[in-house]
Amino acid sequence: MAMSRSLALAFFFICSVASISSTLAATDSFLQCLSASIPSQLLYTQSSPSFTSVLDAGIRNPKFLTNTTKPVWIITPTNASHVQAAVVCGRQNNVRLRIRSGGHDYEGLSYRSERPESFAVLDLVKIRSVRVDTASNTAWVDSGATLGEMYYAIGKAGSRVAFPGGLCPTVGVGGHFSGGGFGMMLRKYGLAADNVVDAVLVDAKGRLLDRNAMGSDVFWAIRGGAGESFGVVLSWKVNLVAVPPTVTVFNVPVTVRQGAVDVLTRWQDVAPVLPDDLFIRVVVQGQTANFQSLYLGTCDALLPLMQSRFPELGVNRTHCKEMTWIQSVPYIYLGASSTVEDILNRTISMDTSNKAKSDYVRKSITKDVWTTIFGSWLARPNAGLMILDPYGGKISSVAENATPFPHRGGVLYNIQYMNFWAATGAGDAQKAWIRDFYAFMAPYVSSSPREAYANYRDNELGVNVVGAGGVSSYDTGKVWGEKYFKGNYQRLAMAKGQIDPDDYFRNEQSIPPLVSGK
Ligand SMILES: Cc1cc2nc3c(=O)[nH]c(=O)nc-3n(C[C@H](O)[C@H](O)[C@H](O)COP(=O)(O)OP(=O)(O)OC[C@H]3O[C@@H](n4cnc5c(N)ncnc54)[C@H](O)[C@@H]3O)c2cc1C
Ligand SMILES: *[C@@H]1O[C@H](CO)[C@@H](O)[C@H](O)[C@H]1NC(C)=O
Ligand SMILES: *[C@@H]1O[C@H](CO)[C@@H](O)[C@H](O)[C@H]1NC(C)=O
Ligand SMILES: *[C@@H]1O[C@H](CO)[C@@H](O)[C@H](O)[C@H]1NC(C)=O
Ligand SMILES: *[C@@H]1O[C@H](CO)[C@@H](O)[C@H](O)[C@H]1NC(C)=O
Repeated sequence: MAMSRSLALAFFFICSVASISSTLAATDSFLQCLSASIPSQLLYTQSSPSFTSVLDAGIRNPKFLTNTTKPVWIITPTNASHVQAAVVCGRQNNVRLRIRSGGHDYEGLSYRSERPESFAVLDLVKIRSVRVDTASNTAWVDSGATLGEMYYAIGKAGSRVAFPGGLCPTVGVGGHFSGGGFGMMLRKYGLAADNVVDAVLVDAKGRLLDRNAMGSDVFWAIRGGAGESFGVVLSWKVNLVAVPPTVTVFNVPVTVRQGAVDVLTRWQDVAPVLPDDLFIRVVVQGQTANFQSLYLGTCDALLPLMQSRFPELGVNRTHCKEMTWIQSVPYIYLGASSTVEDILNRTISMDTSNKAKSDYVRKSITKDVWTTIFGSWLARPNAGLMILDPYGGKISSVAENATPFPHRGGVLYNIQYMNFWAATGAGDAQKAWIRDFYAFMAPYVSSSPREAYANYRDNELGVNVVGAGGVSSYDTGKVWGEKYFKGNYQRLAMAKGQIDPDDYFRNEQSIPPLVSGK
């Protein structure tokens, strides 16, 4: 399981003393304001002994431990009133908040800035309960919970309920739901965000709003329009989904010598049109294509399906591993020897830094191009990997404007490119590989716009410029915004204009406000 292993090995804790330029001059009134509503043990300044450990505990990419603009304050609220106070005090004192849930942002925007500025991190790590209601098959999930904590609580509710989100158990609900969120059940049940039915938001005025109070445009925007832009989402109400008591997992590696080029070429046309219960992704690394599958059913039902639809892969009974859905979560991501309890572990070991980019494929890539990808790009010394997630089924049947996430009908699969390097290195060769490979891929992937997945954040697509009126520029934002959101970018900007016209909540890729009449 190339993907699981490289990601599982990809992290071990690096003790680093950050060099922090103190900007404490402006702090007094902000801190005083916070102290009136928030207990002091939930507030950290750069001189607090545990400041660095609290900050670093939520950093998931070692390249962001140093050499970047860090926060001046960290707030770890335990309830909604604390979050409301943080927003009100921040606005009064011109201190912006970076909201952090699981800290997995690929550009680290939940805790770092690319520009010099004094900001606070609002770390939701202490707001993370999961309340499952088996009578209605729903759950309220707080943003600071990890996917693992949410899945674990749902698993406790029985072997026939589940939730369709991402694979990595330490990813935070807050950022994941905000940007869409997909995993092994995306063909059956769509995005995590497609299954959200209510939410609680603290807006830029410090108001606590549910679905009705925030209004339909904002409720639409927070389900895929990416984090930070619309306020702090504290909690999400989701529908649970039905799974059979037995699911089947398989992992079949095929090397180039064994015919990976042919099998992969065929996979592109087969995987997006299989029955929705069957999901087969591919991790392409070195000279191997690893076919990883979750089937919502038994091996007895899977084998004839594979025989009739995708015999080229050669799946037989020895490949089948039957288990419950909740057992499949650690099995698929952490490996065969992991247990269900392991998905509660929030500690990530970090020994490598990484860089990711993404694409969408709407037309099968030809065999000769795959030959070049294996023969040239993946064979290089500093090569990374590709993860191919097939679409079709539910994720593709939702209308393009039903949520901000526009990569629906017509998408065959998503590509994630990723490369790794030692935590202490600069990664220049690996960064160059991913940039050059992405340039090579341009003719073979979606264009006008070249689509990208917002949750695989990539600042190389473009970053905001603060323009007239001190707000992020709508026109500049189009460059990256239309790649992530296509035609939905404008409606997102209008929702932003409704809920936060002053652009208080912002980062390098937050949605700029478009105020109607402008
Ligand atoms: C190892 C790894 C595996 C991954 N696997 C998958 C996968 O299988 N499927 C998939 O779809 N994605 C996957 N991702 C991408 C992941 O979904 C995104 O990085 C996601 O945004 C992370 O959420 P977070 O809460 O952990 O991150 P954070 O860094 O905490 O937040 C991400 C962004 O959202 C904002 N934000 C966070 N919380 C809130 C909130 N409560 N309200 C408003 N804004 C908020 C932050 O300010 C930031 O801009 C993976 C990422 C990593 C690093
Ligand atoms: C939040 O906690 C504070 C104590 O810090 C308490 O006074 C307040 O009532 C709590 N608010 C809510 C909504 O629970
Ligand atoms: C199943 O497939 C594997 C490898 O693809 C092969 O080694 C094995 O012989 C096959 N088993 C049967 C029973 O066909
Ligand atoms: C949690 O994961 C980390 C990193 O993989 C590991 O070092 C640690 O032992 C795990 N903790 C538990 C309790 O399993
Ligand atoms: C630190 O950041 C600068 C500017 O972004 C960059 O040129 C340099 O390579 C970085 N150093 C490391 C060790 O990453």
